[in-house]
This record gives sequence, C-alpha cells and structure tokens, in this order.
Amino acid sequence: MGESANPDVIPATSLRLACTIFSFNLGTQMMSDHSTKFRSSRKLTIAIDGPAGAGKSTIASRLARKLDYVNLESGAMYRALALKAIEQDVSFDDESALVKLAQASRIQLEPVVGGNRTLLDGHDVSARIRERDVTEGASRISVHPKVREWMVARQREMGASGGVIMEGRDIGTKVFPDADLKIFLDADPVVREQRRMAQQKIRREVAADVAAELRERDHRDRTRTASPLVAAADAVVIDSTSLSEDEVLAQVEKLAREKLIRN
Ligand code: DC
Repeated sequence: MGESANPDVIPATSLRLACTIFSFNLGTQMMSDHSTKFRSSRKLTIAIDGPAGAGKSTIASRLARKLDYVNLESGAMYRALALKAIEQDVSFDDESALVKLAQASRIQLEPVVGGNRTLLDGHDVSARIRERDVTEGASRISVHPKVREWMVARQREMGASGGVIMEGRDIGTKVFPDADLKIFLDADPVVREQRRMAQQKIRREVAADVAAELRERDHRDRTRTASPLVAAADAVVIDSTSLSEDEVLAQVEKLAREKLIRN
C-alpha cells in the first residue's frame, strides 16, 4: 500500500482551503463518489497520525470521498514552509525567522485524489515539496515549538467546522485532542521504506540514502520535545504492515460508521 498522490485534481468547483495570516476560507466540499455515504446531523473530526509511509494520505483521501469530508495533509504545510525557508535562505534552525516567514506566507491545501495539492503564495508546489531537501527541511523545522504553534492554530481553523479528516503526526494529541475518531496508522519500518521507494519511484542508486533519511526523520519526529509523534491514549492503532490499502480503509470506515451511528 502506498501513500502516493495521484495528481488528478478534483475539479475547480471543489473545495479550496486558504490559510493565510489574513483570512481563511472553507468552501463547499464537492468531492464525492458513489460508494457508501454517511448521513449524520454532525460531521465528525477524524485524526489520522503515524509515521511516513504508513499510508495516511491515501486512507485519509479515500475515506474523505466516502464520507464527503475534507482531507487535509498537515505535513504539506510544514513542507511548504520548509520550501520557503530554502528559497529565502532562512536557516532551518532559526525559530523566530521561521515564524516570521510563516506569518508572511500563504499556504493553501486543496484536496485531490490521494492527498492534497499545495499552493505556496499562489504557486503550485505539490511536486517540489516532495523532493529530498524539502522533506529533510520539513522534519527539521517541525521541531520548533513556535513554528508548531503557528501550524496548529491554522490547522484548528481549517478543521473548525468538522467534516474533516486531518492527517499528520500530532493531530490526535495536539491539534484536535477532542477528535471524534483518532487513528494511529503504523507499519514495519522496512515495509514503509519499500512503499516510499515505490511511491516516489526512487532510483536504485539512491535507495539506501533515501531509506536512511526516512529512518533519521522518523527518529527526529518521535523524539523531539515539542509534540513528538506518539499515538494518543484514545487512538485506535492499526498496523498496516500486512494489510492492503482496501483492508485498512475497511477498518477505518467501520470505526467511522460506528461513531456516526452514535453521533
Ligand atoms: O507527513 P509528511 O511526511 O509530509 O510530514 C513532513 C514533516 O512534517 C514530518 O517529518 C514531520 C512534520 N510534521 C509534523 O511535525 N506534524 C504534523 N502534523 C505533520 C508533519
């Protein structure tokens, strides 16, 4: 199972999320498919956390289409800020400069099949933010508490009206500690590395380096002081090591359905 983002963009009429220091707009979610739809008086907030390569983006995106919800990839926001830092020559270690940079940035997420389209100051950076330098930068800037504070505030605004499936590292523990459903999606590190390689079509020559970087990022994400990657006490932990994407989706969908019945 991969986390690959099919680049097909949901039509222009679809939701656009605009996260800026000036405004935040949540349009009407138009994404739908012909599978089971859940109807409920209140829309759930669903948190999906876990390490890279566990399948979060794909599951969040597929579940969002089933529920007619919005899927938001919080990691893309850290990636977009890291890209801006690279472009503006701001050090990944300079917390206050990074916060200023964030405040002066416009980061927009648009749900697409398999993940999010990411716009930075109006430019589509969806492909660029998946490159190795940005990936490394995103993990490094995410250790700073004040950067995280800025991100968490924007993410809470985005999810304020519910009907959201947000995925990341700290969604169930920090962004939405009262989320209706919390999933912690994990998988064996070797399997996650293989999925990443397949997803990003990594060349054999650099595969070992990319795998080492993934392990280093994992370690940093899990051991940082500010909001480390950890399953919330009330999260349902799903180990996807030997599960197909469809099997994981079925489990998560069942949990969501149970919550909606009780809602
Ligand atoms: O999910 P991702 O691989 O795109 O995330 C990129 C980095 O951003 C990841 O190494 C850690 C950070 N991140 C975070 O600290 N908290 C989140 N909620 C999402 C991502």
